[in-house]
Amino acid sequence: MSNESLANLLREERRFAPPADLAAAANVTAEAYEQAKADRLGFWAEQARRLTWAAEPTETLDWSNPPFAKWFADGKLNVAYNCVDRHVENGLGDRVAIHFEGEPGDSRSLTYADLQREVAKAANALTELGVQAGDRVAIYLPMIPEAVVAMLACARIGAPHSVVFGGFSADALATRIQDADARVVITSDGGYRRGKPSALKPAVDEALTRPGTENVRSVLVVRRTGQETAWHEGRDVWWHELVDRQSEQHTPEAFGAEHPLFILYTSGTTGKPKGILHTTGGYLTQVAYTHHAVFDLKPESDVYWCTADVGWVTGHSYIVYGPLANGATEVLYEGTPDTPHQGRWWEIVQKYGVTIFYTAPTAIRACMKWGDDIPAKFDLSSLRVLGSVGEPINPEAWVWYRRNIGADRTPVVDTWWQTETGGIMISPLPGVTETKPGSAQVPLPGIAATVVDDEAREVPDGAGGYLVLTEPWPSMLRTIWGDDQRYLDTYWARFGPGQSATGVAWRYFAGDGAKKDDDGDIWLLGRVDDVMLVSGHNISTTEVESALVSHPKVAEAAVVGATDPQTTQAICAFVILRGSASESEGLVEELRAHVAKALGPIAKPKRILPVAELPKTRSGKIMRRLLRDVAENRALGDVTTLTDSSVMELIQSKLPTASED
Ligand code: WT7
Repeated sequence: MSNESLANLLREERRFAPPADLAAAANVTAEAYEQAKADRLGFWAEQARRLTWAAEPTETLDWSNPPFAKWFADGKLNVAYNCVDRHVENGLGDRVAIHFEGEPGDSRSLTYADLQREVAKAANALTELGVQAGDRVAIYLPMIPEAVVAMLACARIGAPHSVVFGGFSADALATRIQDADARVVITSDGGYRRGKPSALKPAVDEALTRPGTENVRSVLVVRRTGQETAWHEGRDVWWHELVDRQSEQHTPEAFGAEHPLFILYTSGTTGKPKGILHTTGGYLTQVAYTHHAVFDLKPESDVYWCTADVGWVTGHSYIVYGPLANGATEVLYEGTPDTPHQGRWWEIVQKYGVTIFYTAPTAIRACMKWGDDIPAKFDLSSLRVLGSVGEPINPEAWVWYRRNIGADRTPVVDTWWQTETGGIMISPLPGVTETKPGSAQVPLPGIAATVVDDEAREVPDGAGGYLVLTEPWPSMLRTIWGDDQRYLDTYWARFGPGQSATGVAWRYFAGDGAKKDDDGDIWLLGRVDDVMLVSGHNISTTEVESALVSHPKVAEAAVVGATDPQTTQAICAFVILRGSASESEGLVEELRAHVAKALGPIAKPKRILPVAELPKTRSGKIMRRLLRDVAENRALGDVTTLTDSSVMELIQSKLPTASED
């Protein structure tokens, strides 16, 4: 079966019309697309009215100095006031903002009134530590309510935060502290992970011995695990000692809409991490709108849960800022999906009656691997919308998710966006879009995206190329912290500025390969650096992976192109087999034939290596660079951002038994 007929099969046999009840009551209707198309800026100006402004903006977009955008520039607002205080003022103080579930099973719920008190106290504490508007604060915490409180407290006093994922090493933390020149670090003694306390504070202590971190005056430490913690007198201060004694009153100051809200580092495949800068008014407008539209949020009745970590942009936009700006009730979970058992997530869904669930394809595939009987043990009937983010979701995992978690009833929204875009850009809308497994489908109202070829020409339906965003959007990154040139070079130089019908057009290059199907729907094909060149054909690693996992014996697959004297690159696949499947004699041959049948002989992997685990970053992205090192028999590159560095030793130990033809 060719590529195209695979896509056709998915289109014809697996299209899902939105459930009638959802369609009837959806937050957004199909007209929104038309309205936004007719007046894009008017549309965003209207969405900005979801926020409470201290000074209403009179100007929507200033694009006079592209690619440096200003949105709602003369507006003034306080982000924390919008996420917390205004809900209390509107009589919603008793509504639960956060149901916290710790990994060991401890739980606590914070209402909006509680959150207001906590954020006010933390803001007062930061002020007492000398933090002023504009100062950067690094946050290195587990998934506990204090992480959310700390971010909101920074936002409240106009101090941009830089959240560093709690799983990162002292090195990674030090680089980020240096680059942002942070003045304060907020951390904890540790957090619970996989059934035991795991220390965080030692990494901060180590990072602060590095040159370039001298400007950190204070380290504010939350007590979470109670473990033994080294103390640096005069610098370290316990959260419960400093924050708890502060006043619960704090008057929020209004900042300009372009005041920096946060810096978040994206690892990038090479070079030093990029500090992506987001600002306030446009960012909050888009994350609030998209959270309302894409998840069809009904704040008075929904219980929303996003399983991401606050260390990633998903946590910033869809745990902290979007949901709280909308007055949502949400779950915050500290641990891993399989601690203490593989049904932990579903147990939490059942406990809180979660209605909207947002997770990543890698997690969905892990649950698939653990077996259908696990979610079947829990009552998941409260769920009404399921979301996916982080990488292309293979149609099999999409269908499994809808069927086994969503009881074949809920829409699945496949949301494409990036740290740089700040908010969701391409996604179906529940109740509006007929969904297709594996496709993010359509740009949201107010968003302009398309697929272009090497010469920046828009490709016709049915063809592939590069994903570009053709108009600025409110939550776009404003620059790379301290490096305007790199911002220009990385995102805007590849396809612009070029002439278009309306003058000079700037196109944002997302770095992702994409294609448009015959209906004009967009399918994401992964990072362009993940496209292989085999005997003159461009083959996407994602498509081969998707074909492999459509085989009943394969749970997960990672594909790389290894340099090959005959074919430029040869396809090399690493597969994790399903629980019951074993590495039998003919299996590799069977899988190769399966891919050839699904995608054509050109896509048949030259090598297939069954492995126990795949190397992943802590955000769940497969580190293909390391697999390429293995496939090309090279020494391994940097493994410091891996979740578990022993995985690579395991994979390499398998090499001699690799099947090859
Ligand atoms: C890259 C951005 C967005 C929050 C988490 C990741 C890939 C993300 C999808 C999707 C296909 C996706 C892209 C993108 N990606 N969502 N729904 N379908 N690919 O943020 O770490 O900045 O990564 O993740 O390759 O460019 P990030």
